Amino acid sequence: MNNFLTMEGLSKDELTSVLDLSDEFVEVLARPIPKVPALRGRTVAMLFFEPSTRTRMSFERAAKALSADTMSFSPGTSSLSKGESLKDTALTIKAMGADALVVRHSSTGAPWRIAEWTGLPVLNGGDGAHQHPTQALLDALTIRQHFGSLEGLKVAIVGDIRHSRVARSDITAFSTLGATVTLVAPRTLLPVDLGDWPVRTARAIDEVLDSDVIYLLRIQKERGGASVLPSLPEYVSRFGLTWERFARMSSDSVVMHPGPMNRGVEIAPEVADHPRSLVEPQVANGVAVRMAVLFRLLGGEAEDV
Ligand code: NCD
Repeated sequence: MNNFLTMEGLSKDELTSVLDLSDEFVEVLARPIPKVPALRGRTVAMLFFEPSTRTRMSFERAAKALSADTMSFSPGTSSLSKGESLKDTALTIKAMGADALVVRHSSTGAPWRIAEWTGLPVLNGGDGAHQHPTQALLDALTIRQHFGSLEGLKVAIVGDIRHSRVARSDITAFSTLGATVTLVAPRTLLPVDLGDWPVRTARAIDEVLDSDVIYLLRIQKERGGASVLPSLPEYVSRFGLTWERFARMSSDSVVMHPGPMNRGVEIAPEVADHPRSLVEPQVANGVAVRMAVLFRLLGGEAEDV
């Protein structure tokens, strides 16, 4: 692995091997001292050009649990605001001795460009509405932990699919691992052309209440998601996972969300806090999968784990 930019093109075996390695880091994180020396002396730089709570902090936590040092960049207080280009910013951070870059950017493809310019290993922390591969890994790991395998599971992804990098990466990961994926969204929040996506579609959340996993997405207002909806109450009435709908789901089913949640819109607060909501395990697993990809990219040694 030179970079970790996309879920596309990863085979089932490759995906499974990253999840197996992540399981080892789940075990490391449960130790009294949750830290291994694997990446001692290495430096991971966080380049987040878009807001983030979970992804950024869990990459930092992951790097530190591997004994790497971290550097952080904040666009608002950086020289970007003085007109410095993305390329010069990336090369500046490389010159300070970063060994790998974690990049989040509002433009599709930005992490690929930064990888070309710097020649450093780049991990995509989310580019535009395109890809968010570590989110897909943590989601797949969370489902696998809960059900043992994704093979044959029915997963419904509900919400603003059109603007969601999470949906794009998840669809690939879940279907590669053998799940059947159904997308549920108003027509205006589905991509214009689903092309060869390995998915089915449904027109209302009531049609997918028999799923094993209902995966909810927020409406991406910053990418124009809200402007194509008639009204929020109308959205909730057809696509929101209300308590009444949750009560009709099987007692073996689970609910997931990548965060940030808009409680009372796509997910009722009681559903978000229910034991069958996997939101917290998702966040916890985010640290382990990011340790796994950093370990792979920076050539950690197995005996250090
Ligand atoms: C998502 C993102 O930024 O793509 N959040 C995350 O990384 N957990 C989803 C979102 O912003 O809705």
